[in-house]
Amino acid sequence: MPNPSPRSHLYRLGGLLVIGLIGFLAVKALATPSSWNHEDWYRGDSPKEIAALPLSYGGNESCQGCHKKTHDQVEAFGHKGLSCESCHGAVVDHAGDGKKIADAKVDMESNWQCMNCHEDQITKPKFFPTFKPTKTHEDVDADMLCSTCHEAHNPGL
Ligand code: HEC
Ligand code: HEC
Ligand code: HEC
Ligand code: HEC
Repeated sequence: MPNPSPRSHLYRLGGLLVIGLIGFLAVKALATPSSWNHEDWYRGDSPKEIAALPLSYGGNESCQGCHKKTHDQVEAFGHKGLSCESCHGAVVDHAGDGKKIADAKVDMESNWQCMNCHEDQITKPKFFPTFKPTKTHEDVDADMLCSTCHEAHNPGL
C-alpha cells in the first residue's frame, strides 16, 4: 500500500470546508424570499401583506361621523384624546354598518376596563390619576362599580 501523502488530512479538511460552504450557500439561496430587499433588510412583500390584513379598528374619526355629540362630549372632559375603541372594543364592523351595535357595547358588569388603565402602579407617572384607596375611595369595596360614581365619557366628579 502506498504511503498516504503527509498532507492528505489537510486536503480532506479543505474538501469538507468547500462542501460545507456550498451547502450553506445553497440553503441560504433557497431560504431567502425572492422579494428580499438587500438594501433595507426586509421582505419586500411584507408591507403589502400587512396592508391587506382585515382592519379591526374604525378609528375615532369614523365614530365622529355618526356620534358627533358623544364624540364632542368625550373630547370636552377628562378622557379627551382616548381612543373610543379602547373601551368599546375593536368595532370596525360597527363603524361600517351602524346596525351592528352589539359589538360596540362595553362590559358594564365589572371594573376591569377602568382598572386596565387606572390601577395604581409604581411605574406610572405621578401626574396620572390612578385608583387609590384614599378618602374619596375608602368606601369603595371590591364589588362596587366605578360607574356608580364616575361616568365613562365625563369621568371627573
Ligand atoms: C355608520 C354610522 C356609525 C358609525 C360610523 C359608528 N356608529 Fe355607533 N351607532 C350607530 C347607530 C345607528 C347606533 C344605534 C343608535 C344609537 O344608539 O345612536 C350606534 C350605537 C352605538 C353604541 C351604543 C350601543 C348601545 O348600547 O346601544 C355605541 C357604544 C357605539 N355606537 C359606538 C361607536 C364607536 C366607538 C364608533 C367608532 C369606532 C361608532 N360607534 C361608529 C352608528 C354608527
Ligand atoms: C373610558 C371608556 C370609554 C371611552 C373612552 C368611550 N366610551 Fe362610549 N361608553 C362607555 C361606557 C361605559 C358606555 C355605557 C354607558 C351606559 O350604558 O350608561 C358608553 C356609551 C356610549 C354610547 C351609547 C350611549 C351614549 O352615551 O351615547 C355611545 C354612542 C358611545 N359610548 C360612543 C363613544 C365614542 C364615539 C367615543 C369616543 C369619542 C367613546 N364612546 C369613548 C365607555 C367609553
Ligand atoms: C384606555 C385607558 C383608559 C381607560 C380604559 C379609562 N381611563 Fe380614565 N383616564 C385615562 C386617561 C389617559 C386620563 C387622563 C389623564 C390625564 O389627564 O393626564 C383619565 C382620567 C380619568 C379620571 C380623572 C378625570 C378628571 O377629569 O380629572 C377619572 C376619574 C377616570 N379617568 C376614571 C375612569 C373610569 C371610571 C374608567 C372606566 C369606565 C376609566 N377611567 C377608563 C385613561 C383611561
Ligand atoms: C363612591 C363613589 C366612587 C366610586 C365607586 C369610585 N370613585 Fe373614583 N373618585 C370618587 C371621588 C369622589 C373622586 C374625587 C373626585 C375629584 O377629586 O374630582 C374620585 C377620583 C378618582 C380618580 C382621580 C384620582 C386623581 O388622582 O385625580 C380616579 C382615576 C378614579 N376615581 C378612578 C376610579 C375607579 C377606576 C373606580 C372603580 C374601581 C372608582 N374610581 C370608583 C368617587 C368614586
